[in-house]
Amino acid sequence: MTIVIFGGGGDLTHRKLLPALYNLHVDGLLPPRIAIVGVGRKEMSDDAYRELAKDGVTQFSRRPIDEAAWQTFAAALFFVAAEIDSEKGLAPLGARLDIIEHERSLTGERIYYLALPPSLFVPTVQQLAKARFVNRGSGQAARIIVEKPIGHDLDSARAIDDAIADVFDESQIYRIDHYLGKETVQNILVMRFANSIFEPLFNQKYVDHVQITVAEEEGVGTRAGYYEQAGALRDMVQNHMLQLTSLVAMEPPHSLNADVIRDEKLEVLQSLRPLEGPEVDANVIRAEYAAGFNLGRAVPGYLQEPGVDPHSRTETFVALRLFIDNWRWAGVPFFLRTGKQLPKHASEISVHMKEVPPILFNADKAARLDPNVLSVRIQPDEGFSLGVSSKVPGPQVKIFPVKMDFHYSSTFGASSPEAYEHLLLDVIAGDPTLFMRRDAVETAWRFVMPILQRWAEQTDAPMPVYPAGEWGPPEANRLIESTGRRWRAL
Ligand code: BG6
Repeated sequence: MTIVIFGGGGDLTHRKLLPALYNLHVDGLLPPRIAIVGVGRKEMSDDAYRELAKDGVTQFSRRPIDEAAWQTFAAALFFVAAEIDSEKGLAPLGARLDIIEHERSLTGERIYYLALPPSLFVPTVQQLAKARFVNRGSGQAARIIVEKPIGHDLDSARAIDDAIADVFDESQIYRIDHYLGKETVQNILVMRFANSIFEPLFNQKYVDHVQITVAEEEGVGTRAGYYEQAGALRDMVQNHMLQLTSLVAMEPPHSLNADVIRDEKLEVLQSLRPLEGPEVDANVIRAEYAAGFNLGRAVPGYLQEPGVDPHSRTETFVALRLFIDNWRWAGVPFFLRTGKQLPKHASEISVHMKEVPPILFNADKAARLDPNVLSVRIQPDEGFSLGVSSKVPGPQVKIFPVKMDFHYSSTFGASSPEAYEHLLLDVIAGDPTLFMRRDAVETAWRFVMPILQRWAEQTDAPMPVYPAGEWGPPEANRLIESTGRRWRAL
């Protein structure tokens, strides 16, 4: 197999893809004969590329470098310079791939990874077709991997999907949402459907509400160029957070077949109650971080970050309340929030059960019991816990909230495979379960579009802000507190 990475000298390849491939190599999970070919604009020798890769692996691999393993891995690495927009197109790349594949006795089975800005997806795919790099259908069909974001809005997502579909069958396309490769995210289905105690309770009869938080401590860093065009709704909600919502809310699939699972997830997205016009104002809060203190140091506000327009209205925080209008979840609010420069790096899904009736231990209005909460810690400190009420030992009936807690690190050891290891392995194996299908991407855009449109109309409305190091603006608290609930303390 040959893995051709467009954007082979870029950040994603350096930080994530090459370290992931190295770890798969150490685990003996890569095909025995393989070539990994980085493609980029600037000329670079294979040796220089191997050095760059070694630097990435040294800094970002979950395992330290083992010299012997590195040597065999490095021998499979190559670099080819190619200009997507030049007259010659990919012809020089084709010639070099033929030589590499011949020398390493490879069959020509290829995976093309577009680790590129989305604006280059379409021209690259067109060049792949022009250079006759793609055979459609089964057998040794080439596969293509594209990264999120798929488009900037529904129309551009469709245009990208159409252009890729001109060249590849849907079964050959792997759209990455790296959250789906995280161990803890994959475990949501196992937790729900490999245990009998949770599933019967996951519905409007027993669940009061669900919270999903994806909080980041970092600011926008060096990514202003991309982020200014995106914002938190496009960057996190349209993909990662709606995917998490689908996994928590989906019906049990009748098999583990990729399309059966993806059909059930799609149903959730299709059941989202649309938020339009004034509904957007009532249910969606956006904000930008202002200067503040985070992790003990002074940090600039979003508008002062390098590369950010000083009048930018790009949101770095979003909180929203959504409803899934189906039989299972009717009337149960889902509260989602995500942001940059928040006090903690923490992603969690919590399912808040209804209170017990106010008859016995819950009768005293002034001292109500904490309802049970099942919280799934996506990262860090991966695991899940269940909050239950328990009697404090002693002669009186005093009740105290306690936790049943599971930590991956103490049960399974510290180092779970990285999301990209899972995902790359699945593409190699041809398993699309953890990848986004076209219909899901476009349905998620359809939900997000009226929110973007409403915001685009509100050019004069003041943009809410939150000081870096705080959990978003006061409006986000009001969104949930006006319903008699609170954001869970993380
Ligand atoms: C990416 C977003 O998809 O996910 C980034 O573009 C974000 O803005 C990142 O920082 C978060 O991923 P993780 O795995 O660090 O939670």
